[in-house]
Amino acid sequence: MSLLEIKKLTKSFTVGDTSTTAVDNISLIVEKGDFLSIVGHSGSGKTTFVSIIGGILKPTSGEVLIDNTDICSLNDDLLSEYRNIKIGFMFQFASLLPMLTAKENILLPGIFGSNSHRNGEDKAIEYLNIVGLHDKVNSYPSQLSGGQQRRVAIARALINNPDILLADEPTGDLDEETEKDIMDIFTKINTEKKVSIILITHNTDLAKMSKKMLRMSHGKLEEV
Ligand SMILES: Nc1ncnc2c1ncn2[C@@H]1O[C@H](COP(=O)(O)OP(=O)(O)O)[C@@H](O)[C@H]1O
Ligand SMILES: [Mg+2]
Repeated sequence: MSLLEIKKLTKSFTVGDTSTTAVDNISLIVEKGDFLSIVGHSGSGKTTFVSIIGGILKPTSGEVLIDNTDICSLNDDLLSEYRNIKIGFMFQFASLLPMLTAKENILLPGIFGSNSHRNGEDKAIEYLNIVGLHDKVNSYPSQLSGGQQRRVAIARALINNPDILLADEPTGDLDEETEKDIMDIFTKINTEKKVSIILITHNTDLAKMSKKMLRMSHGKLEEV
């Protein structure tokens, strides 16, 4: 059984008289340990696609199967459980809470997740180690560089042991060298923790570092 199976996924938006098909009949299989990258022009449907996989947007038609369950058919409670247990999310902007330290920011999803808070601190410190920030445990976001904040966001996305990490242009506003550092961390997590990763990036050089590069164009996904 595959980790994630996407079947004939379509999402249309209607604004006034105009209808846009942002995701157009996409089928895709993601196995445990896969590392996919998706490149494509702005407006090609990338964010819409990962938002549906992450359960934060409902498709117009099609299925997103995880453990043989179509998450699009789940009620809100089951859907948020799914999001907590299965999925780690990383968005373009790190969005750390400024009044919390790095460690406290990482612990936040654990508080709402079903995982016990016991050992949470140890785990937060373990993940700060993985992303190379062992000496910043008690630093506030304002005391961290952009790249360091992004690393905290990676650790936060991983604290509930998700099967899949979804990252939507997580390095968009970083310099080239820092982007590369973040990419190395993704590769390490993928290899060592066997987390499957779907990474959206505008940077083709970074995308080439993943195991498989896909291109999104007018709502269609094609292998490059
Ligand atoms: N909430 C929405 N309402 C209407 N149209 C939307 C909405 N979200 C996205 N779209 C449209 O869907 C298309 C794909 O957008 P998006 O998924 O954000 O692309 P990308 O992430 O590749 O830049 C665009 O034409 C965008 O305008
Ligand atoms: Mg986008």
